[in-house]
Amino acid sequence: MAQQDTTYQLSSSQLWTRIWTRLQPCRGKLILSTALLVLAVPFVNFHPLVWGFVADHLVEQTLTPRLLGMWLTIMLVTYLIGLALGAFQSYILEKAGQAFVRDIRIELFSKFQHQTLAYHHDHSSGELVTRMTSDVDAMEQSVLQGVTTLFEEVVTFIVVAAMVLWLSPVVGAASILPLAFAFIFIQKYNRKVKSVYEGVRKRLGNIGSFLQDRLAGIQVTQSFAREEAEKEKFEEKAEGFYESSVTASRLRNTYFPVVSTFGFLNNLVMLGVGAWLILKGSEWFTLGALIAYRGFWWRLQSPIRTIAQTSDILQRARAAASRIMELLDEPVRIESPEKPTELPVVNGAVDFDRVTFSYIPGKTILSDVTFSVAAGEFVAVAGGSGSGKSTLLNLIPRFYDAVDGRILIDGNHVKALELSSLRNSIGYVGQENYLFSGTVDQNLRYGKPEASEEEIFEAASAANAHEFIESLPQGYQTEVGQNGVKLSGGQRQRLSLARAFLTQPQILLLDEPTASVEPESESLIHEAILKRTREGEGTTILVTHRVDLLQQAPRILFLEDGELVGDGNHAALTLACPEYNEAYHRWEVEESDTPAQRVGEAG
Ligand SMILES: Nc1ncnc2c1ncn2[C@@H]1O[C@H](COP(=O)(O)OP(=O)(O)O)[C@@H](O)[C@H]1O
Ligand SMILES: [Mg+2]
Repeated sequence: MAQQDTTYQLSSSQLWTRIWTRLQPCRGKLILSTALLVLAVPFVNFHPLVWGFVADHLVEQTLTPRLLGMWLTIMLVTYLIGLALGAFQSYILEKAGQAFVRDIRIELFSKFQHQTLAYHHDHSSGELVTRMTSDVDAMEQSVLQGVTTLFEEVVTFIVVAAMVLWLSPVVGAASILPLAFAFIFIQKYNRKVKSVYEGVRKRLGNIGSFLQDRLAGIQVTQSFAREEAEKEKFEEKAEGFYESSVTASRLRNTYFPVVSTFGFLNNLVMLGVGAWLILKGSEWFTLGALIAYRGFWWRLQSPIRTIAQTSDILQRARAAASRIMELLDEPVRIESPEKPTELPVVNGAVDFDRVTFSYIPGKTILSDVTFSVAAGEFVAVAGGSGSGKSTLLNLIPRFYDAVDGRILIDGNHVKALELSSLRNSIGYVGQENYLFSGTVDQNLRYGKPEASEEEIFEAASAANAHEFIESLPQGYQTEVGQNGVKLSGGQRQRLSLARAFLTQPQILLLDEPTASVEPESESLIHEAILKRTREGEGTTILVTHRVDLLQQAPRILFLEDGELVGDGNHAALTLACPEYNEAYHRWEVEESDTPAQRVGEAG
């Protein structure tokens, strides 16, 4: 988060231009609403003039009941017209504003969906949730309340100022003058408060991410009895938020009284200059005009106050909008090429051609890896923890892009393929696989919503999951809870395997699928995988260090520190690859230990 903020900066004008561009679809509504507003304001603000006219008639003793009736009617009617126009105007504007934030929310969600894994590793889900909720809320507030009110008040101010000047240029100008000072003061304050609000929101975001993270890890916290320590950490963050909010509040509260005082000065000037003119027997400034001024006073005063408060909202909104734009502007680093190669039928051949990869520049994780996997082949990938096995698998569906070299599917460079068709032809099952809240059935059909019941049963059976699913309280309709908390690790894995099987991927990537499951599930999963490979249902690349699988695999790729040092079956590697031999004996010893220990060492 902090990293991003230093590299991403939009000036105010850039930001508002950006927002204005996004308002494109509702510009018609905005223009209509502006027109209605300009129309409504004179009607709503007509009544002080009536007071003035009536007062002058009274002074001149020319007021008849008929005349009074007429003025009162005009007063009521103009007010009602103004009110109706205003209500219609604000409805239209609010509708436009709501549509604006709805579109932003949808766009943000879609952006998050497409962003690379690398991006999601850099941004905690808590941070993204905060941005999607409170930042969008703040922006909503600014568009709906901030801009609407600001706009309304500016128009009111202009109209009323015109009336006041028309009544008397001298008194008008004298009473508007103090407001100019108030306005200058507001400008100054704005500049000051900007960074303070950025700080407030950033700290709120920190609280959000921290909360999300610690709730997700609640079991770890409790098992280490770290509740109090976590509370202290949270206190620190809450304190930071408190401090910056108090700073903002102090600024606000020293500033509003000053603005009010300046604003109130025009009351003084109006009464003083006005009464003095009347005392002097001025012909062109009457008691009626003074009374009208009294009515207009608040109408001049309130825009200045509102503009002051709105600028406060606008500052917050600006900070929020800037962060939202940052998210929207962040390019998706892995996308389909502009003119993707058609890939009608995938056979499932995978080639690595001198592939080099690093997550962080300068720290090579895979170097110069070259191998070919034929369509339908079953290959195991083995190697010590951290040797780059998972990374190697992740490059095939383009979760990450190779830094150098080429990865080919049926002879096509993966970067040249349509991303969704590439990924649709690949099934991926890792060590831990997320299950969405919902039923077993909904989770299984995630990759193929239109699958028939038979297909579901078939996939579940192939993954050795059918039996346990049937034994659940509601069978396939059982709710699994968020991330499948109501299932055992092995059951979750078998569901994930079935979920992958259902889409009948030509290439199945398995990353230590039994690393964290109980032994009974482990043998069921191994059985399911071997069955698929025997029946030739596609290419299978399996990362594992389970000795029984290594012995049965027709071919093993052995990685050490990101280099491919062995390629052959178990017997061949035992003879030719000392690194493999050594690792194999280590795994053999580990496996003869208790299963519990093995689970702990899964890498
Ligand atoms: N997202 C990441 N960012 C930076 N480094 C990573 C990331 N994922 C893995 N690594 C590093 O890459 C190396 C290989 O990781 P990995 O492919 O997961 O190994 P394996 O699966 O063989 O245990 C490790 O040193 C690991 O620390
Ligand atoms: Mg791994």
